[in-house]
Amino acid sequence: EKGGFPSFMAKEIHDQPQAIADTLLGRTDAEGRLQLDEMKISEAELRSVDKIVVIACGTAAYAGQVAKYAIEHWCRIPVEVELAHEFRYRDPVVSDRTLVVAISQSGETMDTIMAVRHAREQGAKVLAICNTNGSTIPRESDAVLYTHAGPEIAVASTKAFLAQITACYLLGLYLAQLRGNKFADEVAEVLAQLHEIPAQVREVLDGLEQVREIARYMADTRSVLFLGRHVGYPVAMEGALKLKELAYIHAEGFAAGELKHGPIALVEPGQPVFVVVPSPRGRDSLHSKVVSNIQEVRARGARTLVIAERGDTAVEPFADVVIRIPQTSTLLSPLLAVVPLQVFACELATAKGLDVDQPRNLAKSVTVE
Ligand code: F6R
Repeated sequence: EKGGFPSFMAKEIHDQPQAIADTLLGRTDAEGRLQLDEMKISEAELRSVDKIVVIACGTAAYAGQVAKYAIEHWCRIPVEVELAHEFRYRDPVVSDRTLVVAISQSGETMDTIMAVRHAREQGAKVLAICNTNGSTIPRESDAVLYTHAGPEIAVASTKAFLAQITACYLLGLYLAQLRGNKFADEVAEVLAQLHEIPAQVREVLDGLEQVREIARYMADTRSVLFLGRHVGYPVAMEGALKLKELAYIHAEGFAAGELKHGPIALVEPGQPVFVVVPSPRGRDSLHSKVVSNIQEVRARGARTLVIAERGDTAVEPFADVVIRIPQTSTLLSPLLAVVPLQVFACELATAKGLDVDQPRNLAKSVTVE
């Protein structure tokens, strides 16, 4: 049932194009207008939403952080992302105009369930983004948008993560369309780009032999840093989380802009640093700032492993390794940029002889506090 792959995780990474395609399937009409059947919150209620709060844990919370950039840009609605176990023990400022989005692969994470209850008690509407039909979180929410990633068996989340991000984009595009704001004209264009992503993820997967090789000879590495900015920041944190949980290597993801506020002190000769570079076709200053960050860590002896868009030659002088991803819009790029990091962690853990499907001390769904 591993379909010829050495682990469920390797198979699930490989299944990601399908997970995204299936999550997009059947959700646009002939005119390219989004149709979200499971949206049981009325259009009037959605038009009146003045704040979105995403609640989730772990990898699902990183999907929420990616969503924040996209939804705020497309919809001009403020989005907060909060870990469910923090949210449930505060007095969050929510009202009947707050849309709470609970993201969970399993639908059974205890802290997320409790946060959903807490939000509903305060009068918020809750939309679940979930991969498991009929699980507790969708049953207790006002509406559900299912991710169609299929069952995820490996403990570490991969295909569910990409499907969660995809579902968040659909939500953002739907809200933009519904509210008919300035961005509504661009929805069709973004949707068209989104439909290209499965083939682009396939392309990334087909070009990762170099990453696999690097991972294999890094089996003795003690620490790896990950830098990213804008949507690359949650990607960096997800890359670090995958490496911790699978390979038991100390790893940290940073916002690249924080580097000089502390983390650069960690850089010593030989320190591997992954850098997720924003598209040079996007906001130019962002690209050049991240290129300077690569230069800064390189000058202190770091080994730089750079994830950059195809055609981005500016990174080359400062990169020990360049990992290429296809061109897409900045907001959609996490769906491509995270894939080499997943493969890196999986391959490195395998090289260490570890069980990537069942890392020590972890459970697939955390049904206790
Ligand atoms: C990391 C991972 C966890 C889960 C988290 C939430 O690879 O799998 O961080 O993302 O436990 O689980 P769900 O999405 O089931 O609520």
